[in-house]
Amino acid sequence: MNAVEAKLNACYENIRKLTDFEPRVAIVLGSGLGDFAENIKAVCAVSYRDIEGFPHSTVQGHKGQFIFGYIGDVPVVAMQGRVHYYEGYAMTDVVLPIRLMRRLGAQTLILTNAAGGINFDFSCGDLMIIKDHISSFAPSPLLGENIESLGTRFPDMTAVYEPALCEKLAECGKKLGIALREGVYLQTTGPQYESPAEIRMFRSLGADAVGMSTVCEAIAARHCGYKICGISCITNLAAGMSGKPLSHEEVKETADRVGRNFSALLTDFISTL
Ligand code: HPA
Repeated sequence: MNAVEAKLNACYENIRKLTDFEPRVAIVLGSGLGDFAENIKAVCAVSYRDIEGFPHSTVQGHKGQFIFGYIGDVPVVAMQGRVHYYEGYAMTDVVLPIRLMRRLGAQTLILTNAAGGINFDFSCGDLMIIKDHISSFAPSPLLGENIESLGTRFPDMTAVYEPALCEKLAECGKKLGIALREGVYLQTTGPQYESPAEIRMFRSLGADAVGMSTVCEAIAARHCGYKICGISCITNLAAGMSGKPLSHEEVKETADRVGRNFSALLTDFISTL
């Protein structure tokens, strides 16, 4: 058996020794957005460190655990902290949690992240529904032998972010009086922030926001058959746009400030699923 599939199977067996919970919705919580997990009626938590072979995050502000429980009547699993390619993990490890949550039963995936705003109309603190992505600046998580048990060799990427879910998110925003942007998210490998020249290039390519995650997860998720939607928290204006240097502190501060709206939106949205 392919080593990637064998590792996925081993992690699945491992986690099934700790919980038999079957989530319907999986949520990946981005930098500074982990507090949403407090809205979950938790049944159990599993630390990434307790799953043998599972990659765990080294980033400040990322807790590194799965929370299993309910939002309303909906069984969910939330990742408090994700792993990033820039931490040195193979792309197949970076997307292993996505595949694992699908194995555990999740059918819908909600990806969230902190991102730099590239669109001139965006402000720091905005929430953006991800309508499409640009993956060309990071390696594909599907490189290598295809895992047929997960999905097809050449998956279609025409509508990665399910239009019906995007619409539902927009409706929840309207209902709650939370203004939502829409746009295209571009993933870099990081860990360095972009240069102003790179941001100008990304803008000319059609990107509205930039970050160091999410797209590889969305590709792996599309491959293994999830319904997907995504929300970016615009934590800062991208390099060269505000005249200030970029910092992880600013990213965390803004995510903290927007946390309440973000959590309200997500809670309302999930309870409609
Ligand atoms: N660039 C890349 N990743 C990010 C940014 C940014 O400006 N803000 C938050 N994550």
